[in-house]
Amino acid sequence: MHQLKGKRILLGITGGIAAYKAAVLLRLLRLHDADVRVVMTRNACEFITPLTMQALSGKPVHTELLDLETESAMGHIDLARWADLILIAPASANFIARYSHGFAEDLLSTLCLATTAPVFVAPAMNQQMWLNPATGENLEKIKSRGITVLGPAAGEQACGENGPGRMLEAEDIVALVAKSFTSNILSGLRLLVTAGPTREAIDPVRYISNRSSGRMGYAVANAALEAGAEVSLVSGPVSLPVPDRAEVIQVTSAQEMYNAVMQKIKNTDIFISAAAVADYSVETIAVQKIKKSNASLELSLTKNPDILAEVAALQSPPFTVGFAAETEDLKANAQTKLQSKKLDMIAANQVGADLGFDSEMNALTVFWGNEQKELQQATKTRLAKTLITLIAEQYNEKNINKTH
Ligand code: C5P
Repeated sequence: MHQLKGKRILLGITGGIAAYKAAVLLRLLRLHDADVRVVMTRNACEFITPLTMQALSGKPVHTELLDLETESAMGHIDLARWADLILIAPASANFIARYSHGFAEDLLSTLCLATTAPVFVAPAMNQQMWLNPATGENLEKIKSRGITVLGPAAGEQACGENGPGRMLEAEDIVALVAKSFTSNILSGLRLLVTAGPTREAIDPVRYISNRSSGRMGYAVANAALEAGAEVSLVSGPVSLPVPDRAEVIQVTSAQEMYNAVMQKIKNTDIFISAAAVADYSVETIAVQKIKKSNASLELSLTKNPDILAEVAALQSPPFTVGFAAETEDLKANAQTKLQSKKLDMIAANQVGADLGFDSEMNALTVFWGNEQKELQQATKTRLAKTLITLIAEQYNEKNINKTH
C-alpha cells in the first residue's frame, strides 16, 4: 500500500475494549511506512498503556492538553497542523457525542476542532449503544460536517452480546485510509513536474544555488500520481526519496533542466514548474579550483532560460502552472507573473521563517484568470493534494471551453 508511505497519520485512541486493537492498527500503519503520532484520551490509557503505543510508533505519545513538556515540544495546534489525516480508532460513543458538539476539553477533541485535515472515525461500542438514536443523531451530525465514518462491523462483542458496534478489523481500516489518498481525477493525463534547486557551477568544487528542498515539487508529483496521472519529474539535486512509479530525470544546472523539460514537453498535458531555477549562471566556469589569492573576486553571470515562460510560449502549450516564492508583495508579484509568463495558474507562497523553502509546512495563494484561492497553512502533502484538485478542475474547464 504505497499510498501510506510518508503520510502523517495522527491516531486518536479513545476508551473502549477495542483500544487493544489500536496496537495492531498502529503496527500496520507503520509497516506501510506511514509516519504515525498517537494521541490517547485518559480512558484509553485504562485499556492500553501509552508505553505500548510509544514503542510501536517510535514517537512520544500525547495524552494531555495542558502538559508543559509536550506543549513545548509539539503543541496541540502544531499537532493539528502536522497531520495529513486524523484517524480515531476506536471511537467510543462518548467521544462521538462530544465531537458532534464540538467540545474541546481534552487533547484529542481539541485537535479535532483545530485541524483542517480529513478526520476518519472508526466507532466501537456495545450494540445497544450503537443502536441508540442519540448515537445515530451524533453520527449524522459529524458525517454532515465531512467526517468519514468507517464501519462498524456486526458480530460477537467483547461484552458477550451480538450485533453492530464492533470496530472494523485493523486491515480493513488501513485499506480504507490508504484508498482515501487516491482518486482518478487525473487518470489518462501526462504530467511533467520540475522540483528542487538548480546548481550553477563556479569551478569544479563550488556552485551557486538556493535553499529549495524540493519538498513541494515532490509532494506535487506524489499527489499527481495518487490522482492517477502518469508523472515525469525533472529534479534538481535534493535529498528526498524519489516517488515510486514516477519517471525521474535528475539534473544539476538550469540549462540541464531546460533540456530535460524540452525533451519531454511534447507529450505533456500539464506542466507544473515547482523548481527554484537559478536565474543566472556563471559566464565562464573555471577549469581549476579558484585560488583565494586576490583581495576581491568578480563573477560575471548570464541569464538562464526561463523554462516555464518558454513552455507557456510554445505553439500548443500544455496547461502550465508556475510557483512564485516571494518575500514581499506576494499577491501583486504572483499576478504579474501569471500574466507576463502567460500561465494558466500560479501558486504563490511567502518564503520566510518556518514557511516555504526548506520547510515541511507551507501556505499558498493560487491565482488563475481573475480568480484566487487561499490554501491555509498545512503540510506540503496536503497542500499538494488540494492544488492537484484545483489544477484538475481548471484543466477540465479549459478543455471544455476549447471544445465548445
Ligand atoms: O520569475 P520567477 O523566477 O519568480 O518565476 C518563478 C516560476 O518560474 C517558478 O514556477 C519557476 O519554476 C519558474 N522558473 C523557470 N525557469 C527560470 C526561472 C523560474 O522555469 N529560469
